[in-house]
Amino acid sequence: MLSINVVALAYLIASVFIILALKGLSSPESARRGNLLGMVGMALAIGVTLQLDEVRNYGWIFAALAVGGVIGGVVARRISMTAMPQLIAFMHSLVGLAAVLIAISAMLNPEGYGIADAAGGLPVANRIELFLGSFIGMITFSASLIAFGKLQGMISGRPLVFAGQHPLNLMLGAVMIGAGLFFCSSGAGAPFFLMLAIALVLGVLLIVPIGGADMPVIVSMLNSYSGWAAAGIGFTLNNTMLIIAGALVGSSGAILSYIMCKAMNRSLIHVLLGGFGGDAPAAAGAKSAVDRPVKAGSAEDAAFLLKNARSVLVVPGYGLAVARAQHALKEMVDLLLKQGVKVRFAIHPVAGRMPGHMNVLLAEADVPYDLVHEMDEINSEFADTDVALVIGANDVTNPAAKTDPTSPIYGMPVLDVDRAQHLLFIKRSLSPGYAGLDNDLFYRDNTMMIFSDAKKACELLVQALD
Ligand code: TAP
Repeated sequence: MLSINVVALAYLIASVFIILALKGLSSPESARRGNLLGMVGMALAIGVTLQLDEVRNYGWIFAALAVGGVIGGVVARRISMTAMPQLIAFMHSLVGLAAVLIAISAMLNPEGYGIADAAGGLPVANRIELFLGSFIGMITFSASLIAFGKLQGMISGRPLVFAGQHPLNLMLGAVMIGAGLFFCSSGAGAPFFLMLAIALVLGVLLIVPIGGADMPVIVSMLNSYSGWAAAGIGFTLNNTMLIIAGALVGSSGAILSYIMCKAMNRSLIHVLLGGFGGDAPAAAGAKSAVDRPVKAGSAEDAAFLLKNARSVLVVPGYGLAVARAQHALKEMVDLLLKQGVKVRFAIHPVAGRMPGHMNVLLAEADVPYDLVHEMDEINSEFADTDVALVIGANDVTNPAAKTDPTSPIYGMPVLDVDRAQHLLFIKRSLSPGYAGLDNDLFYRDNTMMIFSDAKKACELLVQALD
């Protein structure tokens, strides 16, 4: 058994590793290293915790580690990038549940956790920590399960709104807090479990009115909640590592939610009150795709345009990810670069279905990082670009966000592809994207639509360019 000072030092080192991991994860270039540092930090934290005096039953711990590790390993290998948001939502529900279960067992057996007072009950300070950790954990649990169901398509992505929803939530919230405060003052079990039951229902009610398109922001917020729940439990268990790791998860999740809201020009309050997304209607004023002519071309036409261009900006979107077209796209870009065309990638902060989605896909295909540019640094260059090649993206290019105040995406910053000399869209049809909106750019004179699956189109382009 290590001395208290050595344990504290080891936890401090593990925390530094985890902070460095977060820093590494902020850029695709350093993300692998960041992941590795996080794993080392977590292994150190778990290793040190396992040798603590309070840990007695290794059988249960190693059995749980083995089962969880195997399931986690298999799922991580099999999951597709497009299904990551729901996997993350599911994992948050487990973090929330873990916080609740620890809180229940600490409440029922404070002596087992070394936190009992002289009379064998829970001290008031611990009751407050348990109250906070467990109600946040329970809301995280049920809300994350609903988010998982919506993202997986098991529950409709439509916002479910009913009369009196907000007053009902407010009333339940008040009763939950009242029960929690009663538990804090009396230490009685009944108000504690009543508080948990209400938190379970509240988690569901808070998420059902939120539309599908806002779900990734919610997942990131739930990530933040799960961190705070873990930190709350860390106080009860007197475990500094859990407090620090929980606070890091809590604050990074909150920052990510803020960044995502900013990139979609949504206020967090709007997201929480629901409405946008799901099966949103087409923008007011958008004419139906049927009665507007478009210029469709073949891969050969597109190849001709591309190889005669001086500069090309590629805009990847969700369709590229679904089609897993990144490798064929990389091959195509290599051919263009070889032929002297200046090719770069323009990445919108919410392209795809989660932050960094496009960067990860391109990194997977070994696209050099210096060709990949974030929206802020590249947007001004569309005006000086011969061809904007949009692959499986729609909303992130939609000029309605700039020009149509009635559009649900009005105010969302978009890539200025309309300023390029020629526009090429690779997508299967004129179907809208996630926000359910038609895109005026499909019908412009300088636009050519290549109606195809993204991977197939990139492969045909490679053949045509080769
Ligand atoms: P979208 O606007 O959703 O457009 C994707 C397009 O891909 C669709 O129009 C679809 O058209 C096409 N597509 C689908 N499968 C394809 C395939 N196999 N081959 C070729 N094309 C295919 O995507 P985006 O431009 O990336 O915008 C992202 C949207 O998600 C935004 O509305 C954003 O607000 C929302 N969102 C993103 C995030 C984050 S954090 N990334 C979070 C919340 C919401 P066809 O069916 O005609 O092929």
